[in-house]
Amino acid sequence: MKLKILVTYYTQTGNTEIMAKKIEEALNSHDVTVKEVKNTDPNEISQYDLVFLGTGVYANGITGQLKKFLKGLPEGPAKFAFFVGHANPDPAFWAKPIKKMEKTITQKNAEVVAKFDCIGENKDEKVVALLKAQMPQLIPAIESAVGHPNDADLENLKNFAVKTCDECK
Ligand SMILES: Cc1cc2nc3c(=O)[nH]c(=O)nc-3n(C[C@H](O)[C@H](O)[C@H](O)COP(=O)(O)O)c2cc1C
Repeated sequence: MKLKILVTYYTQTGNTEIMAKKIEEALNSHDVTVKEVKNTDPNEISQYDLVFLGTGVYANGITGQLKKFLKGLPEGPAKFAFFVGHANPDPAFWAKPIKKMEKTITQKNAEVVAKFDCIGENKDEKVVALLKAQMPQLIPAIESAVGHPNDADLENLKNFAVKTCDECK
């Protein structure tokens, strides 16, 4: 069965956009619309069988743009799948805002059916320089994130997207 799918995302430095395009490519047998959260009316989501919602994590939070989108979501059933990039492998640095996103969605009587996350290189040179200077204990994590999401991450994402759709039919 062909599903009507929305892939909507927030990106600051491009990683989440790369991930969104990979999902689009993976789901080419479905009817897929891809757009940034800033161009997505929250009320649109009722038109879709499944919504892939993506973001990076910034200072252990999400941005106002995404918060506004979540706040504007209508009450009622809808299915979401998250895809998230974060530079630090330790959930203490990124998991809390994602849990909060899920809570907001379930409070609207919608459902988060699946979640994907992977490492995404912090591409903001100024932030990286500051972190390295002020929190040298983060240097190994910062350096091992370079190049992510890589081909293996994107292959995992592709498999996640296909599986999530199959389970949604
Ligand atoms: C300003 C800034 C702050 C960040 N803060 C965090 C953080 O608190 N925890 C973390 O794990 N990653 C952090 N990251 C890494 C991003 O979450 C990661 O690179 C993500 O893939 C970015 O997605 P984007 O390129 O679509 O914006 C930060 C990146 C930037 C640019």
